[in-house]
Amino acid sequence: MATYLISGIAGFIGSNLARELVRRGETVRGFDNFQTGKRENLEELKGKIEFRELSLLDATGVKDVCRGVDYVLHQAAIPSVPKSVLDPVTSHESNITGTLNLLIAARDAGVKRVVYAASSSAYGDTPALPKHEGMMPNPISPYAVQKLCGELYLTSFSRVYGMETVSLRYFNIFGPRQDPTSPYSGVLAKFITQMLADRPCTIFGDGEQSRDFTYIDNAVNANLLACAALAEKVNGRVFNVATGTRFSLNQTFKMLSAIIGYSRNPEYQEPRAGDVKHSLADISKAHQALGYQPTVGFEEGLRRTVEWYKQAVLTMTARGMPS
Ligand code: UD1
Repeated sequence: MATYLISGIAGFIGSNLARELVRRGETVRGFDNFQTGKRENLEELKGKIEFRELSLLDATGVKDVCRGVDYVLHQAAIPSVPKSVLDPVTSHESNITGTLNLLIAARDAGVKRVVYAASSSAYGDTPALPKHEGMMPNPISPYAVQKLCGELYLTSFSRVYGMETVSLRYFNIFGPRQDPTSPYSGVLAKFITQMLADRPCTIFGDGEQSRDFTYIDNAVNANLLACAALAEKVNGRVFNVATGTRFSLNQTFKMLSAIIGYSRNPEYQEPRAGDVKHSLADISKAHQALGYQPTVGFEEGLRRTVEWYKQAVLTMTARGMPS
């Protein structure tokens, strides 16, 4: 059994990782400053994990939390392309300075391996599809630049300090516990909760942009495989984590409408600044080196996510909270 440290443990991906590790009987420590994470994501984990309220920018605290850790799963970040366009400095601090603080702390604590939540946004708008890791990155938004910079730092740390690192380029991860409440929330969390409440949905652009939407269980699995993989296959490297299929927003809107029984038409608005048109991954490298393959496809993932949000709305209503 090993000790895992999850940064951003109260977030969507961090809390899902924690639940799976706890289920497997591993020792889990985590930290979050609740800038984007949610306390309710930790409720089920109470008494099963060691939690510290801490910011990535608190270098002393981060050094302390890394002591005795075998694997770091670095999920903490200020996500969102549009948020980074509006305020590049704040997201730069968390996503770049915060990542550097954590890498230094992990190095000094003798952590065995750091696995990092990188992003498909690094590929930007290069016309070739599918995107493979050998392509030259072409980030568009500040967020994409920041996530790419984190990858480069990980590879550097593996080269100059001998600490093992793996970067996982997530392709539009979705599923239970993704926060739907911010204007910057992922599109599927927004659409599902808007449709369940019979509210209008907005599509930015013509809706023909496409994404390799990836269900959360696939991302959790990729992280655990990245910890277990032989160093000679993965150390200092970058891997796509996706499904290898893509759906346009118009298609996705129709699929969700059918699952939920929603009858409104979408409202179309101007495309978002910094948006990528198409995104689709080649996942063969992750398959070869990590043994990764998606276990939950897009439509099944949508169904599971819709069910989860339905239950979440019922729980909120039963507690007397506004739905
Ligand atoms: C990008 C990254 C993704 C990363 C995420 C972090 C790419 C291809 N993907 O996601 O890997 O995890 O940043 O934030 O760069 N949209 C609407 N209506 C809405 C909301 C969004 O039409 O109400 C559209 C957006 O304009 C976009 C698509 O839906 O075209 C997906 O948006 P979003 O879910 O925010 O993710 P990306 O920006 O694609």
